[in-house]
Amino acid sequence: MVFVPGYGLAVAQAQHALSELAKLLQANGTEVSYAIHPVAGRMPGHMNVLLAEADVPYEQLVEMDAINPEFPRTDVVIVLGANDVVNPDAKTDSTSPLYGMPVLEVDQARQVFVVKRSLGAGYAGIRNALFELPQTAMLFGDAKAVLNGLLSELRELGVGRVKAAA
Ligand code: TAP
Repeated sequence: MVFVPGYGLAVAQAQHALSELAKLLQANGTEVSYAIHPVAGRMPGHMNVLLAEADVPYEQLVEMDAINPEFPRTDVVIVLGANDVVNPDAKTDSTSPLYGMPVLEVDQARQVFVVKRSLGAGYAGIRNALFELPQTAMLFGDAKAVLNGLLSELRELGVGRVKAAA
């Protein structure tokens, strides 16, 4: 499973909830990493700082050029408050303002969940074709609220408990 953090994760201050979820899934046997786009967020190194604050292990942060070849063998991508940095039009639509910008190729993964509050645009102010792909499911809500909801449900189900204790 690959998490893709973006500006919205920082706005929601959801980094701690994300780190908790990742730990729970890892304890349940899931291979977890975080895809770091160089201009995700609003300043250089924004995502690295944000995730370091939440004690995410440094070795789980994977830069764009290293993670892109991994997406075709990734079962699940969860995009959290990112938009422009996962827009596939940047690769395919020469009329897009993002055309030519390297992006995280999450559309290559088996299943993509996008967590954001609406179909609203990101910094570039344009639509995102990723949201309309058959393998994408939109999960609307504030990133922190959604992650805390997921955490509660997984804890109720006992996910991570047995293997973590073993
Ligand atoms: P963006 O494209 O800006 O998208 C962020 C998304 O977060 C929005 O579409 C928004 O959708 C969502 N969001 C906002 N608040 C949220 C919340 N509380 N919970 C969940 N989602 C929330 O972000 P990105 O993918 O990180 O891309 C960064 C952009 O900023 C690029 O275009 C880049 O060029 C630009 N930029 C970067 C920098 C540096 S150095 N990093 C500097 C200046 C500009 P909803 O409104 O639907 O929730």
